Amino acid sequence: MPDPKESDVILRVEHMTKKFPLSGGRTLTACDDVSLRVRKGETVAIVGESGCGKTTLLKTIMNMQPPTSGRILLHEKDITNLTGEARRENCRHIQMVFQDPTSAFNPKMRIRDIVCEPLLNFGLLKRKDMAAKARELLAQVDLPADFAERYPHNMSGGQRQRVAVARALALEPEIIACDEATSALDVSVQDTIIRLLVRLQREKGITYLFICHDLALVSLFSHRIAVMYLGSIMEKLDGDRLEEARHPYTQALLKAVFSTDQEKNQKISILAGDIPSPLDIPSGCPFRNRCEHCRDMCEKKKPALRELAPNHSIACHYPLEIVTK
Ligand SMILES: Nc1ncnc2c1ncn2[C@@H]1O[C@H](COP(=O)(O)OP(=O)(O)OP(=O)(O)O)[C@@H](O)[C@H]1O
Ligand SMILES: [Mg+2]
Repeated sequence: MPDPKESDVILRVEHMTKKFPLSGGRTLTACDDVSLRVRKGETVAIVGESGCGKTTLLKTIMNMQPPTSGRILLHEKDITNLTGEARRENCRHIQMVFQDPTSAFNPKMRIRDIVCEPLLNFGLLKRKDMAAKARELLAQVDLPADFAERYPHNMSGGQRQRVAVARALALEPEIIACDEATSALDVSVQDTIIRLLVRLQREKGITYLFICHDLALVSLFSHRIAVMYLGSIMEKLDGDRLEEARHPYTQALLKAVFSTDQEKNQKISILAGDIPSPLDIPSGCPFRNRCEHCRDMCEKKKPALRELAPNHSIACHYPLEIVTK
């Protein structure tokens, strides 16, 4: 894949940390010094186990909650702590698609009203033009025009997710953030939604932030992958070079998948040990208590994310040499 130029970077997350104060004076660290650069027209996947901080990272980028420290820049403009009208205006550039659109939709609204609502909210659409706009938005996601008159509960999960994409497209955002947008769908519907997203990216140059726990799935269509663990990015690499992953955690994720051509007696390698609580992140490397390659240094010092090769960074003192299958 050609390497987009530095000037193509539209979104930067710089050393973002998000801590949640809890009762009893305790603090939960959901994101710990996360840095990310996102270029125009690319798909950046953020992958990791449940609770590793993926949604927190997105919510901070989306201005839904302020970070504890660090900055978010959109086209070099600091959007970290926008409020009021500036925050509302920023929503035009970054839209979101959630795992379960049903909970995001008002069940009493017709699909026509749901997809046009963002435009009406911004005063960009007259009521008399709604029917035509709804048809146009539905056509973009390959839904027939008569779906405009339906209610969300009269559709399948995959169709509802298309409506969510149509609604996200309405304001013609530069970035669409998808939080587990296909996780609740069966594989064939996941495939059609992903093909749709890829087509829209080609046609409109949209940038995607795609949150998912399925590393193999995102490698099929993501330009870059950031692997998160306990609030930290452990490895960043190109989506089509996943076989070059060298972090023990990334490799463990790669091995922890079912396959139909698996030998009958071949066990699926599952990560040993429980994921530590984000209330009690281990000293040194956050992954060390589950890493079979852990050494003294890993207990003492948190590894910084460092560049191993162009577009390949890793936070590990002792990167592995090869992927062992
Ligand atoms: N508002 C909050 N107050 C306290 N803790 C929070 C809050 N939001 C998130 N957390 C905690 O922060 C950590 C990261 O949560 P987050 O939702 O970002 O994880 P995730 O990677 O999106 O997980 P999943 O894959 O299950 O959606 C979790 O331990 C979660 O309980
Ligand atoms: Mg989440």
